[in-house]
Amino acid sequence: MMTEMMDSDNPKALKKASVLLRKGEIVALPTETVYGLAADALNEKAVKKIFKAKGRPQDNPLIVHISDFSQLDVLAAEVNSQSLELMKKFWPGPLTLILKRGDVPDVTTAGLDTVALRMPSDDFMRNLISETGPLAAPSANISGRPSPTRAEHVHRDLAGKIPLIINGGACRHGLESTVIDARDSPVILRPGAVSREDIEKVIGKTELNEEGKAVSPGMKYRHYSPETPLKLVESEDFLEFVETHKCYSISFSGLKADRMFDNLEQGAREIFDVLRKADMKHDLIVVEKPEPKGLGLALLNRLEKASVN
Ligand code: TXA
Ligand code: MG
Repeated sequence: MMTEMMDSDNPKALKKASVLLRKGEIVALPTETVYGLAADALNEKAVKKIFKAKGRPQDNPLIVHISDFSQLDVLAAEVNSQSLELMKKFWPGPLTLILKRGDVPDVTTAGLDTVALRMPSDDFMRNLISETGPLAAPSANISGRPSPTRAEHVHRDLAGKIPLIINGGACRHGLESTVIDARDSPVILRPGAVSREDIEKVIGKTELNEEGKAVSPGMKYRHYSPETPLKLVESEDFLEFVETHKCYSISFSGLKADRMFDNLEQGAREIFDVLRKADMKHDLIVVEKPEPKGLGLALLNRLEKASVN
């Protein structure tokens, strides 16, 4: 299959993408977090193509993206007040809510009785959803590879497997959405671009899911990994480790390294790109362990999954 790449500000891009999606095709497109690989969330055949293109395990459910609160009625069977509060505060934006499932096919939710919903803030994606209806979209990478934050990353992984990539440049956040189940006592299933601290300001005490203890099926798989082994090292040991090992080094707090980030926001935005670029060119990638606060929690989660420690 020929894969076409089109800029998101090309006036023909929206039409092209919506025609393909309504025909049951899959399209890669930018969101404010990472690039997504989208299909009509209500079209079983179309959604199956996502799993095939990514090599994604069938038991890993997809996030359904909406553009308008009115779409909730069909997709969710029930929206409790706490979940609604979070939506009102963080939508459109990088927060995904787990809700009792409404009218959504089994392939999309991997047969669960819940559905994951998010309203992205990216203009192109929202305008597209207004034309096509709700879109199921996981990250647009081959399963297990670092998430794609630039159209080139998508092209590298999926060229030849999908008809269209919409290029919107580098993603604003660079880390995936926060996934939360707030139907009862709130639990963060995947830390992400909205911090735990910001969520707690709205709904109070929020637990962090302990790894292995259920619940976001995707979290059990190896993820985000470069081929080159990646090692996480505490800040206080970082400089000595880097001096005594042959490696490519990455720091987030200004410590001398091959790639120095000034702060966590910048680190989060570019980490997947840096990992992809360093991959296969070095024997070892060494990364300073970020503090698990604010965006650092999500960054640490992704790095731990990518690491060999
Ligand atoms: O920022 C994002 O969330 C990006 C963009 C494209 O929206 N999408 C994304 O999708 O990261 P994906 O498929 O890579 O990750 C979705 C996560 C997985 O860990 C999956 O298991 C979890 O959400 N998930 C989906 N539906 C769920 C459900 N019903 N219950 C629990 N976890 C669910
Ligand atoms: Mg993913």
